[in-house]
Amino acid sequence: MRLILLGPPGAGKGTQAKLLTGRLGIPQVSTGDILRQAVAQGTELGREAKSFMDRGALVPDEVVIGIIEERLRKPDCARGYILDGFPRTLPQAEALARALTSLHASMDRVLSVEVPEEDLVKRLTGRRVCRGCGNMYHVDTSPPRKAGRCDTCGDSLYQRDDDKEETIRHRLRVYKEQTQPLVAYYEGLGLLERIDGQGTVEEISQRVHRALG
Ligand code: AP5
Repeated sequence: MRLILLGPPGAGKGTQAKLLTGRLGIPQVSTGDILRQAVAQGTELGREAKSFMDRGALVPDEVVIGIIEERLRKPDCARGYILDGFPRTLPQAEALARALTSLHASMDRVLSVEVPEEDLVKRLTGRRVCRGCGNMYHVDTSPPRKAGRCDTCGDSLYQRDDDKEETIRHRLRVYKEQTQPLVAYYEGLGLLERIDGQGTVEEISQRVHRALG
């Protein structure tokens, strides 16, 4: 299955993608994770991406399109994948369509996860991520058993540089201007399902499953 998770920052795309990966046995392909890894490794890509990411702007289309074209050719994507955070602009969606055509493949479903803006801000300001395994926590709604430490691997938790309130508000504006138009684009292609992203992680996971049949 080839699937896109669309939705604003903090909608829970990463959380649901990780659950789906476990259940469907296909990889989560997150452009945000790929870019953050490049930043952490100090590669040329990371240095270029960092200035955009830190201020909540989108990394230029040609950069992320190149990353995705390379990633989708890897063997673990042969049986399908969950795209998390890509595409985010119309040129990215069109490039994805061309890449799929060249691989004789097509998109199966696009899920748009919808959450009110004030909830998104609360989710993101409280998010903490494990340095070791990438597990996600929230200081109020899903805190770790031991403060600042991952329940799974024991590594330390950190706050993403772009999870400061001012940057979050900018990311939400960028989403409305540049990414939200993709909801209508995929609706027009008959691929879109809207998912109510409010409720517990498990409730949303069940909605996702119902939407995927
Ligand atoms: P990216 O990493 O993709 O970030 P994002 O889209 O802003 O999404 P988030 O990871 O912030 O949120 P999410 O929806 O995955 O929510 P999560 O599950 O983590 O991109 C970062 C940056 O990289 C971009 O700003 C841009 O600069 C660049 N970039 C990436 N892709 C790009 C592209 N294609 N083009 C150009 N630039 C690109 O959950 C959030 C929090 O909420 C967590 O704490 C979680 O525990 C909690 N939570 C989850 N579900 C629930 C629930 N049901 N109830 C309560 N809390 C919940």
